[in-house]
Order: sequence, then structure tokens, then C-alpha cells
Amino acid sequence: MTSPDIAALNADYARDNRLQFSKGEAGLTKVDITFNEATLELYLQGAHITRYQPAAGVDLLWMSNSAVYQPGKALRGGIPLCWPWFGANSKNPDYPQHGYARTSDFNVVSTRATDQATSIILALDPAQSPCPDWKNKAGLEFEIRLSDALWIEMRSHNLSNSPLTLSNALHGYFAISSRRHVAIPAVTGLTYLDKLQNYQSQLQSSALTLNAEVDRVYQAPPEGIVLLDPDRQINTSMRCWGNNNLVIWNPGAQKAQAMADFDDDGFEQMVCIEPANALEQSVTLQPGEDHRLGQLLTIDA
Ligand code: BG6
Repeated sequence: MTSPDIAALNADYARDNRLQFSKGEAGLTKVDITFNEATLELYLQGAHITRYQPAAGVDLLWMSNSAVYQPGKALRGGIPLCWPWFGANSKNPDYPQHGYARTSDFNVVSTRATDQATSIILALDPAQSPCPDWKNKAGLEFEIRLSDALWIEMRSHNLSNSPLTLSNALHGYFAISSRRHVAIPAVTGLTYLDKLQNYQSQLQSSALTLNAEVDRVYQAPPEGIVLLDPDRQINTSMRCWGNNNLVIWNPGAQKAQAMADFDDDGFEQMVCIEPANALEQSVTLQPGEDHRLGQLLTIDA
């Protein structure tokens, strides 16, 4: 896609000092959004949120310093959107991991600035899917509402004449003080498929702590999840909807070092907590049907 005209985007969609478009890293188009003290940065490629500060100086999301900003390359950190599949594509091994949304350019549908929130709606053009068997089959809209909290929602739509199965995730990378000092109690008692043990089913018998590499697909998670981080004196609360699963991932030292775009010691400062519909729990949409996958993020500091 030819790079969008920043002046034209600002003329059509900027909202005073609350929402502006500019050229970001490597000339990619970014959007800066504010609401009172809260600020958010987003790239149109991937509709990728790369920074969210609920208050000055408080980064809720982790972004790799080694992330590669380049057309067609997924950014490491922030909130990538996995869509219309999560993980490897089961039918076509040549298709990109985690779907094509995170490397595709989104169009701006609308923006708003009200007393309640600053918001933007973005969409993928279904005709531009780089994967031939997905062309014109599925639509994706992504809405961001920034207020005292961050509200995000992916809306998938079946545009075809037959049932369509898709999987997805809001692949958030959360910034933490140190991986050994955080806990996620809400997964206690859940069953998970362990990606590190050939997807064996296991029971989580106590709060999740991160002492080693973790890659788990939890089943039937509760709506409310809290990430406890006493050293940072920030607990992140999330309410999730439309998800059959919660994926929790930390690559550990070895895998972090093997990824060129992941800071070698970055695994100490992040954890991915991802509302998802994955593996056997993908969603099937009838023709014309929609699906909403969303998350509301708040902090108690
Ligand atoms: C997680 C998966 O969601 O994403 C992991 O559960 C995967 O298995 C990780 O390694 C990162 O994926 P990618 O494609 O961004 O390197």
C-alpha cells in the first residue's frame, strides 16, 4: 500500500490536541491519542498499540527496544492483533504465524473526542488480504476507547456465504517489575494446554508465577484477571469478553535470546496475557455473523 497522506488523515480525522497522525519509526504512520493524563501510541500497520500510559511515566505495556519497525514485519511488544488465526495456520504452513492482521495496514473508519473518551475505529480491507483463501471472506474492525481506562475490541465479521472458523487473540505484552515477583491468581483451578509439553492438558493448582518459560492456553478463564506486581506497586486489572481462552506466555532466557527482535533480558520485564480463541476453541461464524473479542484495562496504583 502506498503510505497514507498524513496531512489528509489529519484533515479528516484529527481531534484537536487529542488525536493526531504523524510519521513514526521508519516512516510508518502512527497515531497519538490522549485523554486527560492518559496517552496512547498506535501504528496503522497492524492497528498495533505500541504504548499506553494511564498516567505520565507509567507504562502498562512492554515494548522491545529491539523491535523492528518495517513494512510487513510484526512489532515485538505492545498489543499485536492475532487474526484470523492464532499460532500457525493449520491448513497452510506458508501463511504467517498469528495471521495477517498484525502486518497489514488498517484504514481509519472514524475518530471521536467526547467528555467520556477519545476513540478511533480502524478496519482491514477484506479485499486486500495477502492470503488468497481469506480474500473477501472476513472483515475486521478494531476500536480503541481511551478514557481513565483502556477499552479495546476486535470485531470479526463473516462476509462469505458459508460458516467461517477463525481464531484470534489480543496479544498484550504487559510491563512488569521482574518476572519472579508477579503473580496471576485468577488462573488457579483452571485447566490449560501446555504448549511446552506437546499441548498436554494440565491443572493449574495455584496462582501462576513466572520462574521459567511459560506458554499455556488456559480453558474457560474468568472474565476478570489481575496481574499482581507488588514491587512496581501497580496491579493491572483486565476484564475480557468473547474469549474461550487466556494465553499466557513468557519466552524465558533461551528463546528470548534466539529472537532477534526481543531484548536479551526482556523476558524479565514482560508477560503476555492474551484473551484468545485458539486451537479447538476457535469460533465459527454463520454468514453475516459477528464476533467481539475485547478487553478493558485499568490499574490500581
Ligand atoms: C504466543 C504463543 O501467543 O506468542 C507462543 O503462545 C509464541 O507460542 C508467542 O511463541 C510469540 O509469537 P510470535 O509469532 O510473535 O513470535
